[in-house]
Amino acid sequence: MLLLGPSGGGKSSLLLAIAGLHERSTGAEQEGVLRVEGEAGILFQDPEAQIVMGRAGDDVALGLEEHCVPTAEIGARVDAALRAVAFPYGPERRTDELSGGEKQRLALASVLALRPQVLLLDEPTADLDADGAAHLYAALERLSRETTVVLVEHRIADALRLVDRVIAIDGARGVIADGPPDTIFRSASRELERAGFWLPDARVARSRATHVGAPLVEARDASFRYPGARAAALAPTTVELREGEALAILGGNGAGKSTLLQLLGGLLAPSSGSVDASPLDRREPAPARWPARALPSRIGLAFQDPEHQFIARRAIDDVLVGTAGDAAARARAAGLLERLGLAHLRDADPHTLSGGEKRRLGLAGILVAQPRALMLDEPTYGQDLATFREIVTLLDEERVKGTAIAFATHEPALVEAVADRTLLLERAA
Ligand SMILES: Nc1ncnc2c1ncn2[C@@H]1O[C@H](COP(=O)(O)OP(=O)(O)OP(=O)(O)O)[C@@H](O)[C@H]1O
Ligand SMILES: [Mg+2]
Repeated sequence: MLLLGPSGGGKSSLLLAIAGLHERSTGAEQEGVLRVEGEAGILFQDPEAQIVMGRAGDDVALGLEEHCVPTAEIGARVDAALRAVAFPYGPERRTDELSGGEKQRLALASVLALRPQVLLLDEPTADLDADGAAHLYAALERLSRETTVVLVEHRIADALRLVDRVIAIDGARGVIADGPPDTIFRSASRELERAGFWLPDARVARSRATHVGAPLVEARDASFRYPGARAAALAPTTVELREGEALAILGGNGAGKSTLLQLLGGLLAPSSGSVDASPLDRREPAPARWPARALPSRIGLAFQDPEHQFIARRAIDDVLVGTAGDAAARARAAGLLERLGLAHLRDADPHTLSGGEKRRLGLAGILVAQPRALMLDEPTYGQDLATFREIVTLLDEERVKGTAIAFATHEPALVEAVADRTLLLERAA
């Protein structure tokens, strides 16, 4: 079953309820009856939220131990689950040293290993590369013969091969469509599109061509190795980013996309080679040596996991963190929240937002400081068609202003809609 709904429309809340995880959360109100036959296993939208152990194999084994699987069987089931998601490392790999997609693969392995009767998957391919997604769908096709699968996905074209039934929900309105995919997308497609749902053949218009200006940030043979790591996370890379240009950084999970964005954004200093942003600071070309408070108005970086950048208790305060908090900044912040469909959440705790809302809040917090260059790590995951289009429009306006944009993504629709140029990274040997 494919569960569709706009960003913030209640999809993850429904999955959590089916998994029996709401009762324990404080202050939540529930009405009605929920009956679940059998045991449900759930993959959270944010894979990091369910990885608890220090080593990958232990993380998969934990659930099996809790289910009293005989010790002699556990090793084989851990290995099989890691293979099923094509986890690129052995069971000893440290879980705090994984890329976003590698974390998603590991969290999936932990759920699959349990062989639940009901499998609840919240955007399981959001951080996966094309290979990883194909792998997952092959595994689901095998499983779905005996397992009930509930899938939340925005990239629905691939999911449709697997699905017998589609249910569309929309917040307070509840279920707005329920039936086999052919029927739903034939009879209800107009209404769904108006409500902002992705449809199998949705197109996002290519944005306007802009004037590309002078280089702003340049990496020259820049490589990076995390402290203590055996292999480099990023092989020596040379790339230049110009004013008004949008560069898509592509590559498989673990190829070094997030690492490169953090080098270009001044959060990491290269292990060899250099990063030069001298047009933004004549005296100090290396962004990693700038004082932290100088960064937001020069180069904005939106993390792959937006939670990593939230520090305030209210959404609006979080957006204002990188600004002087003056009247102009407050007006820009309010405008961004409005355009990104977050105005009603201005006083909410950022951590209580839906996955797609967190993503947009993270973007607002970067754009508000009006940086000359934007580094965006997976800027559109969790977005419905309407919010995706709004993000594309915002990025387009930035390019017209001359902002340089680099973004990492696994979404072909985003590359098609905004990229002037692509850079394909390959995992360092
Ligand atoms: N904090 C860390 N410590 C050690 N190694 C890390 C750390 N973060 C990432 N790595 C490793 O560095 C390599 C590059 O990771 P990076 O996060 O840049 O990949 P990515 O291309 O962004 O992948 P994804 O598509 O999964 O987001 C991978 O091998 C990853 O396992
Ligand atoms: Mg990444």
